[in-house]
Amino acid sequence: MAYNLLKGKKGIIFGALNEQSIAWKVAQRAVQEGAEIILSNAPIALRMGELNKLGEECNAPIIGADVTSNDDLVNLFTKSQEHFGGGVDFVLHSIGMSINVRKGLPYPENNYDFTHKGLDISALSLHRVLQTAMKMDAINEWGSVLALTYIAAQRVFPDYNDMADNKAYLESIARSFGYYYGKKKHVRINTISQSPTRTTAGSGVKGFDGFISYAEKMSPLGNASADQCADYCVSMFSDLTKMVTMQNLFHDGGFSFTGVTQEVIEQMEK
Ligand SMILES: NC(=O)c1ccc[n+]([C@@H]2O[C@H](COP(=O)([O-])OP(=O)(O)OC[C@H]3O[C@@H](n4cnc5c(N)ncnc54)[C@H](O)[C@@H]3O)[C@@H](O)[C@H]2O)c1
Repeated sequence: MAYNLLKGKKGIIFGALNEQSIAWKVAQRAVQEGAEIILSNAPIALRMGELNKLGEECNAPIIGADVTSNDDLVNLFTKSQEHFGGGVDFVLHSIGMSINVRKGLPYPENNYDFTHKGLDISALSLHRVLQTAMKMDAINEWGSVLALTYIAAQRVFPDYNDMADNKAYLESIARSFGYYYGKKKHVRINTISQSPTRTTAGSGVKGFDGFISYAEKMSPLGNASADQCADYCVSMFSDLTKMVTMQNLFHDGGFSFTGVTQEVIEQMEK
């Protein structure tokens, strides 16, 4: 069901790779709610070609940008300003990558070149996007910026590896930049801490199947799906949530505040 929550709004969505991607669902949902969007992803992801399908469906231009490149981001915001004839009202940062995870290097044995690269892509990129947008005045008054995160920023999930540190840094950037952008232009910046979700990035984490069913059993409402995450993102982009900023918002069916559940106790007693 659509409510026209984003009628007249314009946005940039980073990170749709394939139909499983959380950003893919957010793009579809935002357009259903009346938004006009631009899709962006790393040049290597664009070469896979899947994004063209979403671009056509959403009538959205696709503009490549490696989020670790200032030049790419300036180019993206310049083209976005030309396309929309002004600034955007919302931005989704749905980006994450750890080479240590990919190479299966356990946390105590992390390679620091890989750590730097993963931090740059997964966390510092939010600062880079915001700094570029601020310099170019590319986000409108009362704009809304969201980045996706995971509870490993607060609690230890060993196989999440250095992504846990990246997410802690990402959440901190949302708070710190939220102060400055809020003061300057009433732009609000939040992170959404999503349940484990079957996507390319999610499934890269070792033991993901066990991980996802444990979370399902530990959440009174069950795991939140990518579609439900898209609903939440849309509400955060809308004018109904204007005074929410600098928050880490758990979208996890109650997992974050549950100590134990009956299902888990029964499992332990077997
Ligand atoms: N899947 C989960 O279980 C889960 C849970 C909580 C949070 N998240 C977060 O959600 C976000 C989206 O991930 P997803 O699960 O939809 O997986 P995904 O693999 O579909 O999305 C990750 C995206 O990051 C993009 N990316 C990687 N390097 C980039 C670069 N240099 N420049 C620009 N883009 C780059 C990829 O191309 C891809 O589109 C990530 O921040 C992830 O950490 C995922």
